[in-house]
Amino acid sequence: MNRVEGRVKVTGLATYAAEYPAEGVTYAYPVQSRIAKGRIKRIDGGEALAMPGVLAVLSSEDPPRLGEEAQGELALFQSRDVAYRGQIVAAAVADTYEHARAAADAIVVEYEQDLHDVTLRADHPNLYQPETVNPGYPCDTVKGDVEAGLDAAETGVDVTYTTPVLHNNPMEPHAALALWDTEDRLLVYDTAQGTSASRDLIAKTLGLPREQVRVVSRHVGGGFGSKGTARPQAVLAALAAKAVGRPVKAVLTRQQMFDVTGYRTPTIQRLRLGADAEGRLTALEHVAYEQSSTLVEFAEQTATPSRVMYATPALRTAHRLVRLDVATPSWMRAPGECPGMYALESAMDELAYAAGIDPIELRVLNDPEVEPESGLPFSSRNLVACLREGAHRFHWDRRDPEPARLRDGEWLIGSGVAASTYPSRRSPSKAVVTMREGDFLVQIAAADIGTGARTALTRIAAEALGVAPDRVHVELGDSDLPDAPVAGGSMGTASWGSAIVRACEGLKVNGAVGRADTTEEVKRDAELARHAFGAQFAEVRVNSVTGELRVSRLLGVFAAGHIVDATLARSQFVGGMTMGMGMALMEETFTDEEFGGFLRRDLAQYHVPACADVPDIEAVWLEEEDGELNPMGSKGIGEIGIVGTAAAIGNAVHHATGHRVRDLPITPAKII
Ligand code: MOS
Repeated sequence: MNRVEGRVKVTGLATYAAEYPAEGVTYAYPVQSRIAKGRIKRIDGGEALAMPGVLAVLSSEDPPRLGEEAQGELALFQSRDVAYRGQIVAAAVADTYEHARAAADAIVVEYEQDLHDVTLRADHPNLYQPETVNPGYPCDTVKGDVEAGLDAAETGVDVTYTTPVLHNNPMEPHAALALWDTEDRLLVYDTAQGTSASRDLIAKTLGLPREQVRVVSRHVGGGFGSKGTARPQAVLAALAAKAVGRPVKAVLTRQQMFDVTGYRTPTIQRLRLGADAEGRLTALEHVAYEQSSTLVEFAEQTATPSRVMYATPALRTAHRLVRLDVATPSWMRAPGECPGMYALESAMDELAYAAGIDPIELRVLNDPEVEPESGLPFSSRNLVACLREGAHRFHWDRRDPEPARLRDGEWLIGSGVAASTYPSRRSPSKAVVTMREGDFLVQIAAADIGTGARTALTRIAAEALGVAPDRVHVELGDSDLPDAPVAGGSMGTASWGSAIVRACEGLKVNGAVGRADTTEEVKRDAELARHAFGAQFAEVRVNSVTGELRVSRLLGVFAAGHIVDATLARSQFVGGMTMGMGMALMEETFTDEEFGGFLRRDLAQYHVPACADVPDIEAVWLEEEDGELNPMGSKGIGEIGIVGTAAAIGNAVHHATGHRVRDLPITPAKII
């Protein structure tokens, strides 16, 4: 089935947040802090206000009133304290974007500067243990005696991996258009991964009842987590529109996105693994060090995949956080699992070499009966089958385990493997299905962020109703539609699809309309360990003279329950794997230690893979039936593709060269 919105997208008729026309529209342009820490002494907007077309200057000199619960990056202009370089401290509003930008440049901000600290270190004196890590997991877990397990081990590894700051770079920049009506109701065309949640947060930030706010995001050009929560552009547009009494657009530049729309925390991860003579784990310890801002706590759940993956009598996971003078880190594709599995799956490869065991056999040998940390049974777990299928397709049996043996002229060739995993969750959702002139209208505040959610939900509804998909029309991306959770945590389709199936069942009983709210159904879900699993295989070519590194082949084999739509699923897996390749080889934002903030703030410097970087990439999946998930039997697939890819590539680089790079990205300079 083709994407239902494919035609409007390729013909340019699909309207994105910045593109909605509005009568008398004006523009807000932010001013960003030039210091990393300190206080604003004075902001002078006099000169800016006298410039052509300028309507207002917003700043903490005359703070707009926000709700009591406004916090973090959204509490615009409420404090004179500066939390990081790049923070929004003022804004100019004018009749054109160019006038607003010129005026923003003319706003004078005087600071009182303090010494800043923007550097994550594993021995930072201010490290602390947060109460929980996202999205509410215990921070630390201990089962058995890790030290005793390590002492009893025949072989072991004690290794530390580091990952840099990474930035979500969706194609569509963050943008909002805000309009207030005469009854003080706010309409925001925003770019959001979920309009219900975005409406709630914008309402809370502005101190309005949620009924007074409507968020519309009909088409979204990618998010990868950066649009998973409302961002400053929406609040800025709303405040500016209020101030000037006209509609306001706030469209962030790519560089501004790097500063104020979230990023993945850098991590330092120490893995200690022990194994007996056969290769069975005797202990596994995973400690993650990461950063948050001084504004709010964001605790990435980096060590949590180690609670899921392997059987071991002794298991300890821990997270330590330090609050630095930096922007608040946020959601980025597979938060937790992505950096965590990079470290765990690299360490497993190192253990395989230390123990003289094939890396696939090591994983098979340690595949657990139940979820290791919780002791819960798995609803389904087919990691071993994924590894076996991938080994077959990748001709793993022909691989000489000895590193640096295979050569093609100047090029060293190697292959590597890593496991992947991601939780299969669902959240309560509502949906309404109505019969209209023989067709069916599905209404739900779901989000299609480029994944093809409209198409997947059309299929789910058509199957539930027993009609052809062309008789089903899905309306989404509007908070006035029935409440639905965000496109995030790989649970969109599972959550929305559950509600749609129940609404379709209701319609079949009553004939004209079906309404569903899955709150009670989701509460009744049995307590089980629900995860998708996969196996990632990589082949790399490393130039022995220049260090140039090419990924010549990527293969992902996934077990993710029932696949709702093969074309869309393949795109999700391949997209995730491509992003994992970017993480392995290219993506890195430097923190500016001297001045604070980030260096590399655009796509000319922050490299993401292009098509030519990925000559051969393949994603396949196993048939997996799991009746413990949702009416579709599906597991989320938006994030698992990125999980494990970087480890598979790093392991392949080791196999090609004999050299372990434990610091991402793996650039030529680190190989030579
Ligand atoms: Mo995804 S980072 O859970 O939006």
